[in-house]
Amino acid sequence: MTEVRYRKVKPGDADAIADLWCARRPQDPERAKVRAAEFIARARGKQEFVTVAEEDGVLVAYARAAYFTRPADAPDRTAPSGWYLLGISVRADRKRRGIGRSLTARRLGWLREQGAEVAFYFADFDNEASIGMHEEFGFAPAIRDVLFPGMRADSKPMILHRLDLKAPGFARADRAAP
Ligand SMILES: CC(C)(COP(=O)(O)OP(=O)(O)OC[C@H]1O[C@@H](n2cnc3c(N)ncnc32)[C@H](O)[C@@H]1OP(=O)(O)O)[C@@H](O)C(=O)NCCC(=O)NCCS
Repeated sequence: MTEVRYRKVKPGDADAIADLWCARRPQDPERAKVRAAEFIARARGKQEFVTVAEEDGVLVAYARAAYFTRPADAPDRTAPSGWYLLGISVRADRKRRGIGRSLTARRLGWLREQGAEVAFYFADFDNEASIGMHEEFGFAPAIRDVLFPGMRADSKPMILHRLDLKAPGFARADRAAP
């Protein structure tokens, strides 16, 4: 296996990120490319953070973080405003090699630079890989069955997880970065 390189996202990454999504779940590839290009543009404008991993110049994973503002008219179960770890995806044949952990350490580092005191993420209730990975950083379940704008209509029940970035001993995220 070659060395994994981590960097910020570039405009040319939209297609590769869309490919990661399409490999995980069948969907319209053109819509996926547009969606990826939208958040890459927000990252270029510093409104969010998107980091990728590549091997031999091939993108094998990406991850996002951003501030979410809960719309005033949002349904009751909508997740609260705050700093969030949003999407993360590692190519199937590159899983379990510490890439998700490294991308998450980088995302948490960015949140702290923004002055965040609490970080949130949400996951399907049965996503053992995601929950296991975030647990290493100290995330714990906070709210069951949350809604998030843009989630799929056929989505499974999701759990919101919370991490206090000011808690004593919170250094695992920094230690996890290679
Ligand atoms: C979740 C995901 C990003 C993890 O990425 P990864 O690079 O495979 O994870 P890492 O190798 O960094 O794993 C770090 C730790 O997380 C935990 N973990 C990872 N995968 C796991 C699994 N399948 N089951 C249980 N724990 C798991 C382990 O504690 C692991 O440490 P270990 O390998 O030393 O035991 C990856 O499985 C993925 O892309 N899943 C599909 C997309 C997805 O579900 N995204 C999250 C949406 S909330």
